[in-house]
Amino acid sequence: MAFKSNARFIVMAMLVIMGALTSLVAARSLNEVDASTVETHEYENVSAVPSTIDWRKKGAVTPIKDQGQCGCCWAFSTVAAMEGITQLKTGKLISLSEQELVDYDTSGEDQGCEGGLMDNAFEFIQGNHGLSTEANYPYSGTDGTCNANKEANHAAKITGHEDVPANSETALLKAVAFQPVSVAIDASGYGTAADGTKYWLVKNSWGTSWGEEGYIRMQRLIKVKEGLCGIAMEASYPTA
Ligand SMILES: *[C@@H]1O[C@H](CO)[C@@H](O)[C@H](O)[C@H]1NC(C)=O
Repeated sequence: MAFKSNARFIVMAMLVIMGALTSLVAARSLNEVDASTVETHEYENVSAVPSTIDWRKKGAVTPIKDQGQCGCCWAFSTVAAMEGITQLKTGKLISLSEQELVDYDTSGEDQGCEGGLMDNAFEFIQGNHGLSTEANYPYSGTDGTCNANKEANHAAKITGHEDVPANSETALLKAVAFQPVSVAIDASGYGTAADGTKYWLVKNSWGTSWGEEGYIRMQRLIKVKEGLCGIAMEASYPTA
């Protein structure tokens, strides 16, 4: 599908997926200090990145999933970033379990189908010493189907997570150049379209009939430092 002819659809779809963030964007003053000048992260001193990255082509992205009616995009975003770093570190692309997060990551802020945050989910996975596979602990799209036997079977683990300095598409670019990053959805790459529009390649979890076979390209490097629809506001990635 052509990027340009799809622009109207993309804008509409973005309004839907990022709707929850728009009030936050509006509430932030554009004059706020750019947090990237004070926060540090693993990739802060990277000076050059490739012009295009597509982690799908490097085998670090599992096929599009479908979260259905359960409001757990936080779990899909967390898992997609973890699948990415696992593949980059081990060479194995393993589809991991969102349902384990929905069922077990419930003692803190994360509330299954009622919402959650990627950073909390990374902390849960670290404390849990790993996460099971999608095949072993499949997605049901409902709360509270805990399965202790399946939960005990970990296929991948992480050592921690880092936040990308907020409101800096430059900082986000440095991170996505090295691994897929959680941005409420999953930044699976970036590039420049034929018409010159710079974009983020974003993996959603609404099945393959949505967007560009389940993906969307969102405009990159806009004037507002939060990025389009706040993509650069709360990005984070796991370490492994
Ligand atoms: C980046 O460079 C600064 C200055 O040399 C240094 O203090 C900092 O530790 C570096 N950060 C990383 C993640 O290597």
